[in-house]
Amino acid sequence: MPSFLYLGLIAPFLWTSLLLTNLVNAQNQMIKHPIKYRTNAGFLKYTANARSSCITLNGQNPLVTLDYGTEAMDIPLFYVEFVSDPVQVEAKYSEPYSGLDEPYRDGPFDFANGFSNTFRVETFNVTTTGRVESFFIQGGLRWQNLKPLTEGSIRVCGLGLRSANDRTPIDQLPGFFESSNSLYNEIWALGVRALQQVCIAAGTAPYTWEVTADGPYLRGQQTAQSVKGASFANYTLEFDAKIIRADTGWKVAAGVAGYGAYFVLTSNYPSQSSFVNINRTVVPPNTLASQLTTGKVNYYPLPFDVQEDQCLSGGTWGFGPYQDQTALVKDVQVYSQNVTLLYQNPMTSDEILEYGIMGNTHNLCLDGAKRDRLVWSGDFIHTSRIIQASTSRSDFISGTLDYLIDRQAGNSSVYEGFFRMEPGMGQSAKYADIYNSFSLLDYQSLILEAVAQYYKNSGDRAFLLKHWFKIEKGVETVLQLVDKQSGLAGMFFLGSSNGTAALALLAHTLTELAELAATMNATDAASLWAQHANSIKTTINQELWGSELRTLSIAGSAWEILCGIANTTQTKSIIAALSSLRLGLGYNSSTSVANSSSTNLSPFLSGFLLEAILQESRKSSSASVARTTAISVLLDQLWVAMVNQDEYYTGASWEYLSPDGRPGLDLITSHSHPWGGAPTYVFSEYVLGVQPTAAGFATWIFQPAILDINPSWARGRVSTPQGTIQASWRLSGAHKKHLQLQVCGPKHTKALVSLPFTVKSYTVNGKSKVVSKTQVNIAVTDSSCADIHVTLL
Ligand SMILES: *[C@@H]1O[C@H](CO)[C@@H](O)[C@H](O)[C@H]1NC(C)=O
Ligand SMILES: *[C@@H]1O[C@H](CO)[C@@H](O)[C@H](O)[C@H]1NC(C)=O
Ligand SMILES: *[C@@H]1O[C@H](CO)[C@@H](O)[C@H](O)[C@H]1NC(C)=O
Ligand SMILES: *[C@@H]1O[C@H](CO)[C@@H](O)[C@H](O)[C@H]1NC(C)=O
Ligand SMILES: *[C@@H]1O[C@H](CO)[C@@H](O)[C@H](O)[C@H]1NC(C)=O
Ligand SMILES: *[C@@H]1O[C@H](CO)[C@@H](O)[C@H](O)[C@H]1NC(C)=O
Ligand SMILES: *[C@@H]1O[C@H](CO)[C@@H](O)[C@H](O)[C@H]1NC(C)=O
Ligand SMILES: *[C@@H]1O[C@H](CO)[C@@H](O)[C@H](O)[C@H]1NC(C)=O
Ligand SMILES: *[C@@H]1O[C@H](CO)[C@@H](O)[C@H](O)[C@H]1NC(C)=O
Ligand SMILES: *[C@@H]1O[C@H](CO)[C@@H](O)[C@H](O)[C@H]1NC(C)=O
Repeated sequence: MPSFLYLGLIAPFLWTSLLLTNLVNAQNQMIKHPIKYRTNAGFLKYTANARSSCITLNGQNPLVTLDYGTEAMDIPLFYVEFVSDPVQVEAKYSEPYSGLDEPYRDGPFDFANGFSNTFRVETFNVTTTGRVESFFIQGGLRWQNLKPLTEGSIRVCGLGLRSANDRTPIDQLPGFFESSNSLYNEIWALGVRALQQVCIAAGTAPYTWEVTADGPYLRGQQTAQSVKGASFANYTLEFDAKIIRADTGWKVAAGVAGYGAYFVLTSNYPSQSSFVNINRTVVPPNTLASQLTTGKVNYYPLPFDVQEDQCLSGGTWGFGPYQDQTALVKDVQVYSQNVTLLYQNPMTSDEILEYGIMGNTHNLCLDGAKRDRLVWSGDFIHTSRIIQASTSRSDFISGTLDYLIDRQAGNSSVYEGFFRMEPGMGQSAKYADIYNSFSLLDYQSLILEAVAQYYKNSGDRAFLLKHWFKIEKGVETVLQLVDKQSGLAGMFFLGSSNGTAALALLAHTLTELAELAATMNATDAASLWAQHANSIKTTINQELWGSELRTLSIAGSAWEILCGIANTTQTKSIIAALSSLRLGLGYNSSTSVANSSSTNLSPFLSGFLLEAILQESRKSSSASVARTTAISVLLDQLWVAMVNQDEYYTGASWEYLSPDGRPGLDLITSHSHPWGGAPTYVFSEYVLGVQPTAAGFATWIFQPAILDINPSWARGRVSTPQGTIQASWRLSGAHKKHLQLQVCGPKHTKALVSLPFTVKSYTVNGKSKVVSKTQVNIAVTDSSCADIHVTLL
């Protein structure tokens, strides 16, 4: 566990009383301060807690823009050193700089509450000096504005965001990668920064509903829905609402995920409790407004079916006022058409868990910092490997997997045996069937992959024992879908159901899970699953390979290579064929993707491809132009776009890109999405080249890919349950014919240093060794180090 630095305490000349408040309230949380700020005087360096970085806002200086340099999130705060009269101060937040020009910045976010402020604009009524902080988490931003809305003057200091998240500096993490290519080092860091925003420790995300004796005290936020009305239709909803500030809001005929008709009842806006920035066009006083679509109308390319949820006569209800407003809600009752009482809840106690607002009970990693803020299962295959390569917080891997596995569909669901694909924080496991989000079949494979990967890295047998019954049931359920005639029946995110992506991924998953079954002495399952894996591989090779019907896709290409279906010749032709998928800075996901201006490049899918090509590269005996080209497209064009465009830069990996390299879904794109961060672990596992070959790194390999990729040296460390592995390699000399490798492994482990090329000669710790014509394999055991010098042919 890294210790949290306490940055609030550095300046000796600051207000002691404020610091005391800071110390008491901040509960050892680290505060991230801006790196620069802009007032009328232009951009200036921001020095945390220095007097020179206190900012006066008034008629002459009406706006400050803060730049946090890289992605930040959590509770915004500042200290008021002086305020003339009560001043209303508006804060706005955005990931990209371009978002600052929009009235609602890059929000609001239309569905998941995500234990955060779903509005990107918030207003503070500043009346006295001292600490001001948001009630809500702001989930993901690089830029912030602060602007007084009313007459008067205010002087603010100590601006920042406090967070309980692990924000250890990137180069001090247990896992690290560095190379001669500084752009690649930046790319390695992208996934790590995304991770540091989205992995939320148990109990650290505050509830967004505050329970009181008068019902939940609701501040402006996306509504949270009751699961109890999921199957209701044609009902009358009655409740008592008390507007504290400006309005109250609710949904009816809504999906449990939040889709549905939204209503806002506004007050007469008395001046003492109404912020002056209420948009009276959108929410006029004394009005019942419905279906608000302020800000951008957002279209999410979400991989799940919302049809059912959009049906307007059926669905549940939920509560949540509009931006900045506050209300109490109690005595909720629902009646059927014949006036039978269907539901009743006084809302005055903790009996409101059905609204999905219980605390975050597990160490969980979400899909993105600002949205969706859901625990998307398939995304976690990348996230968990980034954790292994960097923070080494395996408690977040097991915590997230526990959460997903505990949400397996029961026998009241047609998806019995599947794991929930995107539970929110706070949504109880006992309602998994009602939330009914299971349908992406390849996400079922990906979560099982993450289980296998976790065991390989950790050797955590207790975890396997605890969950084996459910894991086995999950695999058996996926197997029932395999139909030899038509591939798989169902919905897929990686490609069409009859394409190679879904099948090849499943073959890979079954192979991995068969190994786990063998570990568990479940010998029948082990052989059955391995048989299935083999027969799927045969099907792909016989029926899909070379067939005109074969849909070319990056995910299909990746998983054909990763699952070992493609032999060397086939792999060559798969990699060569990628050139026909080129689109802008990267690869078009599939030939079945429509040609339209809204087509996006997917770093999520491209990550699988990057791994597949480097896996092939590091076992090849000579360089290949096709591989070098493909690796360069992915790293030097696609991923570099997340590094070298300051107007969009957050230092974290993105959700989608448009073919010209801008963020793919415009402002709503998540600029901190670990699913786009695969290069972090691909660099550590393949370019540095350290990977486990037996559970918990009891045995491991050091096998770097040095042929098709351009750093001339790489070094780093990999954390294992037995201790840290240090490794490095360097090519030098005329024509780069001299290769030096150094590696130190922990106790109780055995390593194999493996180079697939023909070498002239080599030495190990100064002793020369027999020349091998084909490849070099050197054993390193039990906390010893090896210094290897190789002269290449
Ligand atoms: C709701 O009412 C409509 C119109 O009367 C009817 O067509 C529909 O079947 C009802 N739905 C349910 C679930 O009762
Ligand atoms: C701001 O706080 C002051 C002092 O409590 C109060 O008089 C004023 O009505 C408040 N304004 C709003 C908009 O809440
Ligand atoms: C109020 O909302 C409307 C509709 O979204 C928008 O066009 C307008 O710019 C907003 N006004 C302000 C002052 O933000
Ligand atoms: C009234 O509606 C409820 C729920 O829809 C139903 O169970 C009940 O049978 C109905 N009662 C009558 C008298 O129609
Ligand atoms: C369904 O599951 C419940 C609880 O897990 C169990 O009690 C019940 O027997 C099961 N029903 C069937 C038909 O399997
Ligand atoms: C599997 O069997 C081996 C040998 O009998 C035993 O050592 C091991 O503990 C068993 N594993 C489990 C998970 O039961
Ligand atoms: C896959 O399905 C699509 C659409 O359903 C169809 O057009 C295509 O021919 C199918 N391909 C194969 C290999 O069956
Ligand atoms: C690879 O597989 C193809 C198709 O099954 C086969 O024709 C070819 O001979 C194989 N090549 C090698 C090198 O094994
Ligand atoms: C994706 O690639 C295929 C094959 O080149 C092409 O038919 C399709 O139009 C492409 N889509 C876009 C958006 O370029
Ligand atoms: C896709 O559209 C772009 C621009 O509209 C065009 O340049 C390109 O040739 C198209 N690709 C295909 C395969 O039709």
